[in-house]
Amino acid sequence: MAKKKARIVVVGSANVDLTTFTDEFPEPGQTLFGKSFDLGFGGKGANQAVAARYCGADAHMVARVGDDLFGPATIRNFKALGIGSKHVRKVKGMSSGVAPIFVEANGQNRILVVKGANDALTPKAIDKARPLLEKADSIVLQFEIPLETIYYTVEFAHKHKIPVLLNPAPAMPVEIERIRTIDYFIPNETEAAAITGQTVKTEADAKRAAKVLLAQGLKKVILTLGERGALLASAEEMTMIPAFPVEAVDTTGAGDAFIGSFAVFLAEGASEKDALARASLYAAISTTGVGTQKSFVKRRRFDRLWKKTKR
Ligand code: RIB
Repeated sequence: MAKKKARIVVVGSANVDLTTFTDEFPEPGQTLFGKSFDLGFGGKGANQAVAARYCGADAHMVARVGDDLFGPATIRNFKALGIGSKHVRKVKGMSSGVAPIFVEANGQNRILVVKGANDALTPKAIDKARPLLEKADSIVLQFEIPLETIYYTVEFAHKHKIPVLLNPAPAMPVEIERIRTIDYFIPNETEAAAITGQTVKTEADAKRAAKVLLAQGLKKVILTLGERGALLASAEEMTMIPAFPVEAVDTTGAGDAFIGSFAVFLAEGASEKDALARASLYAAISTTGVGTQKSFVKRRRFDRLWKKTKR
């Protein structure tokens, strides 16, 4: 693969993840002991930027953090990882985004997000980051920031012909006609179900949901289906990209690992299917470690593991 250093700008959220590993969930009024706990940097946007950075990109973040202990720590984390943080600002009087997360024995997660300062990422921030955004190979967006900012960024990117990958997570009602110009719409099953109003449990369901989204004017949909892989859907094709079987201990952030790495492989010049297969392995590896950003591997390790696969 001919490699070019990808310049990826993530406009999105930064949270601190408080992850509890447990086999049982308390009933109202009940107290139970959890198995273990992990504190780490997270947020779908930040996770995607970290995945992009670890995959070798010149990665930048446009984000807002709170006026608390977590805010400066988040900025320090970006700096330590070499992620451009010139457009990450602290918002006075607001808390940082936090995410209490519960992970069951099979690695499955349940996440509650308190958006805090992420809600203060307004279109003004996009205007300020304009010189950075104009030079991006692609812009990556998720739904943990105001929708108004998403629509504004999509419009900006369209005007400047910059590819956009949009991860509608967590799902919320979205005006599809305002995001039609994006290149990739990347929901998981839950998000696709919430946005289309369809059940998304099987491969056939996923294809039906993808058709609904394409009929609304989206160009390409990549529906991630966890251990069943991902569906690439466009007017021309419906292709399943198989997952890589692994022993998952914590699936949190796997979708972010997939998106951040996919953006890099694509910008480096890989074909769409090759980039998807690689992203699928990158995401699978992340489920074998605890935490979100902490479970992402660096490019050298990834390349070694990729070489060992038969794809
Ligand atoms: O996708 C995983 C992420 O969702 C976590 O890091 C959490 O912060 C929430 O944003």
